[in-house]
Amino acid sequence: MQIYIETFGCAMNHKDSENILAILKEKRNAVQTDKIQEADLIIINTCSVREKPIQKLFSELGSFNAIKKNGAKIGVAGCTASHLGREIIQKAPYVNFVLGARNVSKIDAILDKKGAVEIDISNDESLELYPSSPVSNFRKSINISIGCDKQCTFCIVPFTRGEEISIPADLIINEVQKAVESGAKEILLLGQNVNNYGRRFSQPHRDINFTALLKAVSKIDGLERIRFSSPHPLHMDNKFIEEFANNPKIAKGIHVPLQSGSNKILKMMKRGYNREWFIDRIERIRRAVPDVAISTDIIVGFPDESDSDFNDTIDILNRAKFEQLFSFKYSPRPLTEAKDFNNQIIDEVASERLIILQSTHQKIMEELAKERINKIYSVLFDTFDENSGCLIGRTSSGLLVKSRGDIYNLGQIRNVKIIESMRTQMKGEII
Ligand code: SAH
Ligand code: F3S
Repeated sequence: MQIYIETFGCAMNHKDSENILAILKEKRNAVQTDKIQEADLIIINTCSVREKPIQKLFSELGSFNAIKKNGAKIGVAGCTASHLGREIIQKAPYVNFVLGARNVSKIDAILDKKGAVEIDISNDESLELYPSSPVSNFRKSINISIGCDKQCTFCIVPFTRGEEISIPADLIINEVQKAVESGAKEILLLGQNVNNYGRRFSQPHRDINFTALLKAVSKIDGLERIRFSSPHPLHMDNKFIEEFANNPKIAKGIHVPLQSGSNKILKMMKRGYNREWFIDRIERIRRAVPDVAISTDIIVGFPDESDSDFNDTIDILNRAKFEQLFSFKYSPRPLTEAKDFNNQIIDEVASERLIILQSTHQKIMEELAKERINKIYSVLFDTFDENSGCLIGRTSSGLLVKSRGDIYNLGQIRNVKIIESMRTQMKGEII
């Protein structure tokens, strides 16, 4: 069986696709293909965080159906599967099955049931053991929790991935150990809200929080770097920042999603922190880890966002000097509170704000890039580009570095002196 799988959205969706493939490989001897016409099974693993990808889903389904081989099946998985459910099959009757996020373990059973819809968001997959999938590029993602207990008023995720359940620590440690044994040097701990880890398990569990989990995982021999995605600024307490700073295995790149710099908007978003807390966390992290790279998410055009609210966001952008910015125009989502808020912002205003935000950030990145010249970074090389003869890797803080060098450096951490620095990548010499 040949499978074509397309994945949209967050790192967790990519991990779900990896698990789907691993299950079908074990149970059905399946192999992945990148040619739709040759596939016996086509899966689109969807994201529903913003509206655009959903429109794209139906046009894509139509074109896949037109070119697929006779008898090939089409399935829709992920968050849009959870939230639209049967509606997908009503709109596109050639779709064979709909498999919601948090129902990945049912992929084998659903495959032969034409018209099946499995979208139970209370399905407990926290104890599920998926077959191992190959480690690619010395990196491996490992889930530490499912779902999200926050109720940010703009976000559909709690309605598509359900309530938050932490995966037992011993299972996580086992997974990391297995990954390291099969060649991983770096692991990415995944959850919608990773640093809320340990609040709820589906069976009795010892008391543990995210900081303690990081400590435990870092004891694994052979593991070089630990990353995690995504944490919530509210749960970044001082103990966590201390561990982040002082544990040499924790990579020094961190995502601190701001969303808005205005206290009024943060409150309407129900983010649970204010701008003062956010700025304090950033300052504390930068003091503790001078070479840290901080990325963030910002939404512009949230309902009732005034020019002055937006300026508060720009103010934090200028102070925090994020190394990376993911910026979005607010998109009203079904099931969320914010879609019914008064004073929805017109697209023209939101678009203008997005441009101002992004151009302000471009300048910040240019300044930051200059400061990196002649600095020395430890780079984990994970790719070799045959064409240019260059090794490609990342610094501990997650910045992309290219360097001339021999292929035997793959999988190794090397010191690299930066000779050229652009906004999103650097070139350097191994020293
Ligand atoms: N905790 C999650 C967040 C998922 S959504 C994680 O692990 O990444 C990712 C980002 O999309 C959010 O941080 C937010 O900035 C953006 N987003 C979510 N809902 C949105 C909406 N309705 N409109 C625009 N952007 C949104
Ligand atoms: Fe969404 Fe907020 Fe959770 S952004 S995933 S509800 S932390």
